[in-house]
Amino acid sequence: SSNPTADLRAAIRSIPDYPRPGVMFRDITTLLGNARAFRRAVDELVQPWPGAKIDKVAGIEARGFILGGAVAHQLSAGFVPIRKKGKLPRDTVSLPYSLEYGLDAIEMHRDAIDTGERVILVDDLIATGGTATAAVDLLRRIGAEVVAAVFVVDLPDLGGAEKLRAKGVTVRTLVSFEGE
Ligand code: PRP
Ligand code: MG
Repeated sequence: SSNPTADLRAAIRSIPDYPRPGVMFRDITTLLGNARAFRRAVDELVQPWPGAKIDKVAGIEARGFILGGAVAHQLSAGFVPIRKKGKLPRDTVSLPYSLEYGLDAIEMHRDAIDTGERVILVDDLIATGGTATAAVDLLRRIGAEVVAAVFVVDLPDLGGAEKLRAKGVTVRTLVSFEGE
């Protein structure tokens, strides 16, 4: 089709009442398993940055690793994992972020990115923005220039993309599920 967004939307499976009653889960495994949709999603995520010098792509564990690795390859950039706490062996920087119940933390290696390097942050989905906001703060703390944060799915009712934009981040999302 000539409308890539429609194709991507159709490739995402929606599961009512998962993981809890009242929640509509947007499942990207069907998009990832569809060769055309997966390629198209990666191509669309990086479409505004053809030939831009991007040093590193940072992906957020776990679903952000799948797309982030492909995006890094596409941009001929390095890949940096932003992990849930306790998984990285060397010196880390760490930030807590809020979940529905309580706090978790994400970490990255302190030496993963040099001061002034240009970084694109990748995750599959932005909801409240708690995870992505913590990731941007971590990247900035170690001196990265966050060129953009990109996501396949936006849940705008939860305000995460707006929260990131308010921090001066360029945000790109491909498929928006609003009021659904
Ligand atoms: C999901 C999703 C994003 C995050 C978005 O990850 O993959 O990373 O939540 O939510 P937020 O905008 O409200 O922070 P999850 O923590 O469920 O873990 P996973 O990627 O390891 O499956
Ligand atoms: Mg995630």
